[in-house]
Amino acid sequence: MSQDKFLQGYDPQVEWNKRARTPGPQSVMALDWSDDQCQQATKDLQAVILEILKPLAAEKILEIGCGIGRITQILSPFCDLTSIDISPEMIKRAALNISGRFCLASAFNLPFPDDIFDAVFEVTTFQHIVKEEGFELALKEMKRVVRPGGRIIICDEMTTGKREQPSPYRIIRNPRDYLNLLPGVCLVRIRRFLCVDDNYILMRLKKR
Ligand SMILES: C[S@@+](CC[C@H](N)C(=O)[O-])C[C@H]1O[C@@H](n2cnc3c(N)ncnc32)[C@H](O)[C@@H]1O
Repeated sequence: MSQDKFLQGYDPQVEWNKRARTPGPQSVMALDWSDDQCQQATKDLQAVILEILKPLAAEKILEIGCGIGRITQILSPFCDLTSIDISPEMIKRAALNISGRFCLASAFNLPFPDDIFDAVFEVTTFQHIVKEEGFELALKEMKRVVRPGGRIIICDEMTTGKREQPSPYRIIRNPRDYLNLLPGVCLVRIRRFLCVDDNYILMRLKKR
């Protein structure tokens, strides 16, 4: 079955709303991870994001695909953070525990003017945008809203080899797949990060 056929009728908002109803942190992490693994993975990811993003107080930062607020909770007290997600149910769960600025929106069409944020980041969101047109659009939008000199942080499961698609809803790309679609952006730092049994790559980029 071709991927397009498989994805016929697939509506990411409906699917992510369903996932939001999965109790516990597995709503945004692998369904077969234990609570302990999820807790450790969250702690490790929070630390690594803080380390690569280096948020400064009063900076305007955008989070794309906040889910239930795993990363939001560590940043919202310290900077001027806006968090978007395509799923109202994810946002509802995040807003239950976190006093943040949440906005229902798609990565494909960010409701913000050009050059408005000091930094923009996404954590395990773009790896679920399997269609190439959507992926291109999401990267373009991410770059559009960050100011010149501002930073873009990308954190997804990636491979240094050929891209793989383990399921119709998840794609593991090569860092080059991202960089090739981001002209006018330079790579400042790249690091690997093993989280439970997933290979993440984090990139810190700068818009020229
Ligand atoms: C795997 S979860 C990660 C959530 C969060 N970043 C974290 O690390 O805990 C992916 C999130 O991306 C959101 N998402 C998927 N496609 C999106 C899109 N096109 N625009 C905005 N959010 C999207 C989903 O609703 C979900 O909350």
